[in-house]
Amino acid sequence: MVFNEKYEGKTSISGYYSAISHSYDELHGKEQFEKLKVIGKHVRPEKDDLILDVGCGTCFSRDFFNCNFKGVEPSKDMVLRHSKGKFLVGKDVFISGVEGLRGLFEENLFDYVICVTAAHHFMDVRRAFIDMRDLGKKGCVFGFSLLKGSGNYDECVSAINDFFVVIDEEDVQRDKVFICRKK
Ligand SMILES: C[S@@+](CC[C@H](N)C(=O)[O-])C[C@H]1O[C@@H](n2cnc3c(N)ncnc32)[C@H](O)[C@@H]1O
Repeated sequence: MVFNEKYEGKTSISGYYSAISHSYDELHGKEQFEKLKVIGKHVRPEKDDLILDVGCGTCFSRDFFNCNFKGVEPSKDMVLRHSKGKFLVGKDVFISGVEGLRGLFEENLFDYVICVTAAHHFMDVRRAFIDMRDLGKKGCVFGFSLLKGSGNYDECVSAINDFFVVIDEEDVQRDKVFICRKK
């Protein structure tokens, strides 16, 4: 994702996403949907399963997977774009980055953990992947979609290989999707 003139005057990543939130689905919805379809080949929750989406944006994945859903997202405006956004905030979706995961959820809680085109914003990549790993139950399936051109792409791939077993990989437009389990 390229920062553009709409970012003027905004000083944070969440500020950037808040500024573009009104047009996010229109601009990026199709592309993100393709990534979810690839993730969905392995992430196939039953209705009662619990999924976590880290950097869930406009909560696109909540409707896609249609199971028990929790998300974290630093930009409240992004969450509010969802038709049920105001009911989700503070209940199913927490206004936080990956950095807040440990304080929000107990370990070994989730059946599935996904993170779609958000890891390029992580400051401490290894910590972030460790924290996401620890929240997954034994047998949890993880779906990570990484922006291939991002500055921390290699660091993300190295963290994934260190902390997970990769069971599938697939290029989807500007991203590469990694499907993993805990090591
Ligand atoms: C390209 S958007 C992807 C949103 C959503 N995952 C999707 O597929 O539509 C990147 C998202 O990462 C979020 N983000 C930025 N910094 C983050 C952080 N430190 N932890 C978690 N999410 C972050 C942004 O607010 C933004 O919603």
